Amino acid sequence: MKNYKDTIDPDNIPLHVAIIMDGNGRWAEKKKLSRLEGHRKGADIIEPLIDTSVSLGIGVVSLFAFSTENWNRPASEVSGLWELLALFFESKIDIIQEKGVKVVVSGARKRLPAATAGIIDSVISSTKKNRKIVLNFCINYGGRQEILDGVNRWLHKRKEGEVLTEKKMRQQFYVPELPDVDLLIRTSGEYRISNYMLWQLAYAELVFLDVLWPDFTSQHLYRAICEYQKRDRRFGAI
Ligand code: IPE
Ligand code: IPE
Ligand code: MG
Repeated sequence: MKNYKDTIDPDNIPLHVAIIMDGNGRWAEKKKLSRLEGHRKGADIIEPLIDTSVSLGIGVVSLFAFSTENWNRPASEVSGLWELLALFFESKIDIIQEKGVKVVVSGARKRLPAATAGIIDSVISSTKKNRKIVLNFCINYGGRQEILDGVNRWLHKRKEGEVLTEKKMRQQFYVPELPDVDLLIRTSGEYRISNYMLWQLAYAELVFLDVLWPDFTSQHLYRAICEYQKRDRRFGAI
């Protein structure tokens, strides 16, 4: 396999990398395991991913963990995912602190199980001063829902005659300080966005990888960054 790491230009690292971590179920099915085993293996990928991202100097990594449409899965898978998320934060909080990770969460609060919401809040508050990297967990997240929640919040406090601008819209998002996405990576060979960060992806470079998420390694991240660095980002100019 080509050594992608050595060809990365350190002066052109994407500031914000968003990842659609897809393929856990197919990974498990191929191995005759339960889908939840696939999700468990998928969660194990996050810690090494943080290390590689920090070493590359990526500023923000957004991870799509549960979509507003994932409620349509069987109840047992949904509850298993909530338990897994809570367990992930409980067991990794010390490591997250040690690595200087600031955890933020994007998503609609309603419908989150109380236990999961409680752990999320405590991780957000205990890591808020960390500066090495921002990890944006997208939980019960939908791009359309984020825009709707934002517009409705703004309407609530709108002064008469006031109009909504791009700048004001951004301030209504779940985590207003996050920059636009530079690089979107989706694993599992699906070529779609699945309602992820619709606004923030407007000028992102899209990289689709054939690997199933539980098999994702640092090499795949290096490869995606090399691909990103080959792109000519014009933003509508010439
Ligand atoms: C992604 O893996 C994880 C979540 C959506 C929570 P999937 O569970 O979608 O895996 P596939 O796409 O069925 O293989
Ligand atoms: C997107 O994957 C959501 C997450 C990775 C959390 P899905 O597996 O839910 O998306 P579709 O159904 O293939 O579009
Ligand atoms: Mg999927």
